[in-house]
Amino acid sequence: MFLSVHGDPGQASQVLSRALAKAVDPGMRGKVAAALAERLSGLAPNGWHPVLDADLTVLLGEAAVDPQKLARVVARTLLLKTPDFDGSVEALEAIGRDPLWRGFLSRCLNLDAAMEARLNAVRAALVATDGTEGEGRAALLEALAVNGFAAEYLDAGPEGLTGRLAWLFRTPGLDEEVSGELARRAVEQPKREGELAAGLECLTPSDDAVSVAVRDQYEASPYPRWVAPPAPEARSLISCVKALPGLDREAFAGRPERVLVAGCGTGFEPIDLARTDPTLSITAMDLSRASLAYGARVAGELGLDRVRFVQGDILALDQIEDRFDVVTSTGVIHHMARPDEGLARLAGVLRPGGVVRLGLYSERGRKRVKLAHALIRERGWRATPEDIRAFRAHVLSLPDGAPLAALRESDDFYSLSGCRDLVFHVQEHCYTPPQLDDLLAVAGLRLIGFDAPPEAQSAFRSAFGRADPLDMDLWDRLETQNPTLFAGMYHLWAQRPA
Ligand SMILES: C[S@@+](CC[C@H](N)C(=O)[O-])C[C@H]1O[C@@H](n2cnc3c(N)ncnc32)[C@H](O)[C@@H]1O
Repeated sequence: MFLSVHGDPGQASQVLSRALAKAVDPGMRGKVAAALAERLSGLAPNGWHPVLDADLTVLLGEAAVDPQKLARVVARTLLLKTPDFDGSVEALEAIGRDPLWRGFLSRCLNLDAAMEARLNAVRAALVATDGTEGEGRAALLEALAVNGFAAEYLDAGPEGLTGRLAWLFRTPGLDEEVSGELARRAVEQPKREGELAAGLECLTPSDDAVSVAVRDQYEASPYPRWVAPPAPEARSLISCVKALPGLDREAFAGRPERVLVAGCGTGFEPIDLARTDPTLSITAMDLSRASLAYGARVAGELGLDRVRFVQGDILALDQIEDRFDVVTSTGVIHHMARPDEGLARLAGVLRPGGVVRLGLYSERGRKRVKLAHALIRERGWRATPEDIRAFRAHVLSLPDGAPLAALRESDDFYSLSGCRDLVFHVQEHCYTPPQLDDLLAVAGLRLIGFDAPPEAQSAFRSAFGRADPLDMDLWDRLETQNPTLFAGMYHLWAQRPA
C-alpha cells in the first residue's frame, strides 16, 4: 500500500498482486483487492500479459471492488488477447470459455468504442452460427445477453429474430425460460422494482411543468444504471465536511446525522453514504419512481434500513418541516427551469450552519455536448431508442480527432439512458466558476469547498501557488486555458450561515 502511494506504481501492482493471491482473511483481502483495482483501473496496457489477465479475472469477482472501474482496462486487455476475430464457432467457443471475457460481459458496462465494434461482431457471429449449442457459446450467449441488457441494447439487431438468440437484442419476457444472472438482472430485479415503485412514499407533490417533463424522462430512462453496489468510500461524510477549507466549524458543530440526497437518481450516492457511515439517517428523494425503486431494491438487498427513498420535487421542499445537516444534489438543479429557485429550496431545508454539496455542469466542459445538441436539432433526432442509436452510430463513425468524437470518452455514451442523459436532455443550464459564486450568493450560501480532480488541483498550485483554492476567478482563468479540466461537472460545497 505504501509503494502504491509513494513508490514505483508497477512494483506496487506486483506486490499487491502477490499479496492478493495469498490473502485469506476477508478484511485484508478486500483491502488488497481494492488497492490493486485502484492501481489497475488507470492502466492502458499495450500488450497482453497473463498475470494482468489473471488479476483482472480475480478482481472482477471481488466484493470490495467496483467492477465498472475496471471496464476500460479489461476491455483493452481482452482486445489485446484476442486481436483478431474470425466469427468461427471455435472463436466463439474460446471467448465463451474465457473467464475474463465472461466476467467482463456480465459485470461491466463496456466503455470502449473498439470493444463495442467487437461485441457487435460477436453477436452477429452468434446469430449467424445459431450459437446456442456448445458449452462456451451457451455461456457467451448468456453473458452477452446480460451485457446487452445493461447497455439497453445499443445494437438494434436483425428483424424477426426469435428464441434465445433474441435475448441478445431485447429483454427476455417473464414467460421465457431464463436462468442465472440473466434471470436475476433482466427479469427478477425489474419485477421487484415495479412492486417497490408502486409502494413508494410521496414526500411532496410535483406540478411544475419542467419537473413533470424531467420526471417523464427519468421514469422511462432511470439514470445512472450502475450494476455493482459501491464499495464503501474510505472517507466518511464527517471527515469530508470537516476537511472543507472554508467551513465555519462552530456553526457546523457535532456530527452530520440527517442527510438529504436531493435528486438521488438510482440511489448510488445514498447507498454509498449509508455503507460508509451506517449511523446516518438518509432521505433519498427523486422525481422518478423507477429510479428510486432501483436504489430501494439494492438498499434492501444490502440490508441498509436507514435510507428512506421518497418521491418528491425539490421545488416543493418548502412544504416540509424536516431540516438536514447535509444536503447533496449532484447533477440535478441544472436540469430545472430556474436552478436558483431549486437551490433556494435546498438552502431552505438546511439547518443553520448546515452544508450542501452540489454537482453542476461546466459551460466549457460541456462544449462538445453543445455541438451534439446542434447536430441533434439539425437532424431532427428525438430521445427515442432509434434516434439515440442513430446519433451514436454517427459519433462512432467519426474519425479520431473530430470534435464530437470526444464524446466516445464519456461513460454515458455507452448506454441508451446514459446517452440520453448526456446529449438528449429536455432541460439543462451550465456555469462558469464566477457564476457559481453568484448562484450561491442569491441563495444566501457561502462557498466553503471546491472538489477539483487531482490533476486540476495540481494545475492550480503550479499556476497560482498557495492562492485561495476557493477563488473562483482564478479557477475561471485556469479553466479558460484548459477547458476539459472539469470533465463536464463542478463539485462544490457551500454552507448556510448559522
Ligand atoms: C442526472 S440524474 C443524477 C442522479 C444522481 N444525483 C447522480 O448523480 O447519479 C438527475 C436526477 O435528478 C432528478 N431531478 C431533476 N429535477 C428534480 C426535481 N425538481 N426534484 C427532484 N429530483 C429531480 C431526476 O429525476 C434525475 O433522477
